[in-house]
Amino acid sequence: MYPKDQIIAYQALAKAYLTNPHTIELDSLKKLLKFNEYQYYVLNEPLISDYEYDQLYQQLISIESANTSLITPDSPSQRVGNSLNASFVTIPHLVPMLSLENSYNAADLIDFDRKAIEGAGNEKLTYCVEPKFDGASISLVYENDLLVRACTRGDGVAGEDITQNIKQIKSIPLSIPLSDYGIKQIEIRGEVIMSKNSFAAFNEKLKLKQQAPLANPRNAAAGSLRMKDPKEVGERNLDAFIYHISYVLPIPGAKLTPLLQTHSGTLSLLWNMGFRSPQKERKISEGINNVIDYCTSFEIGRDQLPYDIDGLVIKIDDVPLQEKLGMTSHHPRWAIAYKFKARQATTIIENVEFQVGRTGAVTPVAKLQPLALGGVTVSSISMHNEEYIKEKDIRLGDTVIIERAGDVIPQIVQSISSLRKGTEKIITFPTTCPACNATLEKEEAEAVWRCISPLCKAQIVERIIHFVSKDAMDIKSFGEANIRKFYDLGILPNVPAIYTLDFNKVTQLEGFGKKSNENLQAAIAHSKNQPLYRLIYGLGIRFVGETTAKTVASQIQHILDLTNLTEEQLQSFEDVGVKVAKSIYQYFHEENNIAMIRELESLGLNMIQTNTTAVDGNLAGLNFLFTGTLTQLKRADAEAMVEARGGHILGGVSSKLNYLVVGEDAGSKLEKAKKIASIKIITEADFIDLVKN
Ligand code: IVH
Repeated sequence: MYPKDQIIAYQALAKAYLTNPHTIELDSLKKLLKFNEYQYYVLNEPLISDYEYDQLYQQLISIESANTSLITPDSPSQRVGNSLNASFVTIPHLVPMLSLENSYNAADLIDFDRKAIEGAGNEKLTYCVEPKFDGASISLVYENDLLVRACTRGDGVAGEDITQNIKQIKSIPLSIPLSDYGIKQIEIRGEVIMSKNSFAAFNEKLKLKQQAPLANPRNAAAGSLRMKDPKEVGERNLDAFIYHISYVLPIPGAKLTPLLQTHSGTLSLLWNMGFRSPQKERKISEGINNVIDYCTSFEIGRDQLPYDIDGLVIKIDDVPLQEKLGMTSHHPRWAIAYKFKARQATTIIENVEFQVGRTGAVTPVAKLQPLALGGVTVSSISMHNEEYIKEKDIRLGDTVIIERAGDVIPQIVQSISSLRKGTEKIITFPTTCPACNATLEKEEAEAVWRCISPLCKAQIVERIIHFVSKDAMDIKSFGEANIRKFYDLGILPNVPAIYTLDFNKVTQLEGFGKKSNENLQAAIAHSKNQPLYRLIYGLGIRFVGETTAKTVASQIQHILDLTNLTEEQLQSFEDVGVKVAKSIYQYFHEENNIAMIRELESLGLNMIQTNTTAVDGNLAGLNFLFTGTLTQLKRADAEAMVEARGGHILGGVSSKLNYLVVGEDAGSKLEKAKKIASIKIITEADFIDLVKN
């Protein structure tokens, strides 16, 4: 709808205003807001963050409220919502779906409270605070106990009919006992979400199908609602929180429940009717100061929830007071959203680097115009592989939306093609290793280009970095920068050289005082006695993470025992599949690797399994015994599973026994165990569940 040069001009106008707020002409401000609403609601391609939009919107409100004669009927402040996506049938809501006013700090909340107190005429207000679910809003209508309609928000006045899709969400009941409450028809509001776990599983599935992952659970939930095939919606494992009743039509003569007199009561009523309404998740707070305390402490723990929220919603609990306060054309005066710090923002890709990892994998990394996001500065971001760049159509010079959710590594949500000026460049993947020039290779059915040269210096350095890292040999005071420096100086050419490092040379280096020298020497000496699994993990064998290293270590005496095991034998280890077994086998059949391990042994490193039980497994300290014939597992494997998780196998039934696992045709052991109350008698299936948890 908007020509490209106009889009670029609007974006420049927004950025100029936001970086340096100044007087802006009312007319261009309104146009700018309308443009960004169109991008967000109609195209689903926001160009500025919600927070940035809000700053612009607040500027409009402040100009208009200073001079109300300037308000025109088409001002963004005068409408409830925005235009529609036309692909589903449009149905009017019984009551318009308003948005919420936003707040970002204590001052905003105090201001909200002051106005509410003025309007309500009370001295102190009671608030109900609940999560602001980060999903897609819906409205549901139930009549005569049955779900008859489900709609998207649409433009706030009318939404799209998505009843068939909504019926796939199992937390939304198809019928509710309305008549028990004297209600004939009800319209309710809520949010469809995808939990973090479902989102991870969903992206995993996409990956298996070689499709690009989705950026966040909100996109996944919102995209699901408009899918053509309801069955596909069902497979996405969506959820819904219901938090508002917008309309109630009583059965003539019936008396309505007093629960409807408060918002918290309404949430209880919804819960009682079978909805997932915020119950544990809501908090009643007396006065705004308690609300503020709750909001600030909740923000710190926001990542602990199993689903995404982007803030909290503060609602006056008393419903008659809500009605007294009423609403503007945009939002109710009895509620406000407290938005958490933004985790999405836009920036520009200034450069692309190709980094070689310890396994030779070449990863494209976008170097960004630095931006502050969720409390940290992001200046570079992984683009994973060639496919990823192609699927997201990311180009050098592009403006991209970056998201950082909690501890999750920042991701590129999308590139904004409408902002291209024509100078952006397609990113071409190198055909040779950027570190050593060897030709790159790609295995069939793999997305990653790899340098397989054993002499590649980038890989050698990355291997040393991995070897000394915290979860591997944990050689403290050996920072990444120092490793690179030592390597470049030729005093640390490979892993064994760590143990023959020439400290006379190190002392002469700038920044290496006596103390740091001593610390490093002590850390290196200490690492020689690290447990075997740390060494196995530290070798950096492909697909061998810390857990696999622990399992493997628990099955052998000496590290070189691994040279004698076949791929089949390796596969019999817990969690070692075909791919991992193959990788371990190859590693221990490569002459250079064996020579290096022997060298490390001669330098005094521990190569043997000293502690045969992994004490920190989920069965640590528990005693097991198997009896009868197991049908799914081999007895030896089952016993190994217990030991790998820190449990013990006992020789017979005694009061020391915690679990007796009973297979088919169990005999005297079972009879004996039944007489000892403390022994838990479980089936093979129970055991498998127990081990998994
Ligand atoms: S109350 C009149 N409560 O946030 C009732 N909204 O930014 C207004 N949202 O359109 C909505 N969690 O889609 C309310 N606990 C919650 C919410 C919530 C998420 C969404 C809703 C609304 C948007 C406003």
